[in-house]
Amino acid sequence: MTSPLRNDRFLRALRREPVDCTPVWLMRQAGRYLPEYRATRARAGSFLAMAKNPDIACEVTLQPLERFDLDAAILFSDILTIPDAMGLELYFVDGEGPKFRHPVRSVADIAKLAVPDMETELRYVMDAVRVIRRQLDGKVPLIGFSGSPWTLACYMVEGGGSKDYARIKALALNEPQALHQLLGVVTDAVIAYLSAQRLAGAQALQVFDTWGGVLSPAMYREFSLPYLTRIAHELDRGQGADRAPLILFGKGNGQHLEALAASGTDAVGVDWTTELGDAVRRTGGRVALQGNLDPATLYGSPEAIRREVGVVLDSYRDGNGGSREGHVFNLGHGMSPDMNPEHVAVLVDAVHSHSRR
Ligand code: CP3
Repeated sequence: MTSPLRNDRFLRALRREPVDCTPVWLMRQAGRYLPEYRATRARAGSFLAMAKNPDIACEVTLQPLERFDLDAAILFSDILTIPDAMGLELYFVDGEGPKFRHPVRSVADIAKLAVPDMETELRYVMDAVRVIRRQLDGKVPLIGFSGSPWTLACYMVEGGGSKDYARIKALALNEPQALHQLLGVVTDAVIAYLSAQRLAGAQALQVFDTWGGVLSPAMYREFSLPYLTRIAHELDRGQGADRAPLILFGKGNGQHLEALAASGTDAVGVDWTTELGDAVRRTGGRVALQGNLDPATLYGSPEAIRREVGVVLDSYRDGNGGSREGHVFNLGHGMSPDMNPEHVAVLVDAVHSHSRR
């Protein structure tokens, strides 16, 4: 039914098996830095129109793979599809980022939230996964993803992006039980969403805890970590060769790596403010690690990019007793629209050639 996988480096690294060289993919690898993406976007009209059309979502998912020797594809979608399907109504204002027409503003709003149906309300996401998996035809594995409960709750309560997280932090302080209720239903939805993506064809699953790092350590342990742990425990990843590994990425998660490695996840994604060699030593081979080149490195020259790629690769190897096993190369966070595609090619080739030596 589906073609055998021709490049399994990424899945092997997540399972901490030997690889011929270190696999690499980039967060936000499909996006506005690519002229072909901007052309498709102009034709479709908007980001949401692209994400809600499975054929267009497939087209832009494949665009970076046509240019670069990447070892994984990531579903073109967004983390805010879940709250949108819960009735909050996602929209984008140019230059201001995502917004919700009906943000969560009261305990009564929280009580109304329910887990959306994955094959009706979020059918367009599952259809995109099915179309992409078919079109990939075994070239590389497909990553499905979700936001973390805490990160989704931030957008749901703030109504969009935020500088200070004033509303959600006030909720955490004044009505923690209400916030736990919100995080509970969002966690149920995330587990159902990731399961449905796996059944539709996603071969690995990543959770983006983009805003975990804005919490104090005690608040992180109360409002983010337990929900990530529940996902890692309850998410059915399948069996044997078809098992889809789980990656927990978190911006600013450096001080929580031991706890994340003990959560039951297969891999942890690390941002660039943590020394990767220290991260391996601290997690002691319990999980694979993904990361963690500073995305701003792409503003450097090709020589600087090659040098910095080597620093990250060798930091991992040195912390891991001389072995590159268990490392998936990535940026420490997503790409930006003003990055140079030629520099991405330099980065990808540098990861493969340096780690093959
Ligand atoms: O990595 C990929 O290529 C897959 C696609 C992907 C998108 N969003 C596409 C997108 C993924 C994995 C996301 C996740 C996401 N969305 C996160 C977590 C990301 C992380 O790096 O931690 C967050 C916080 C969001 C919410 C969101 N959606 C934001 C902040 C924005 C940017 C708004 C802006 O004006 O730039 C979006 C829109 C969005 N999602 C774009 C893309 C390519 C920009 C679309 C466009 O304007 O064409």
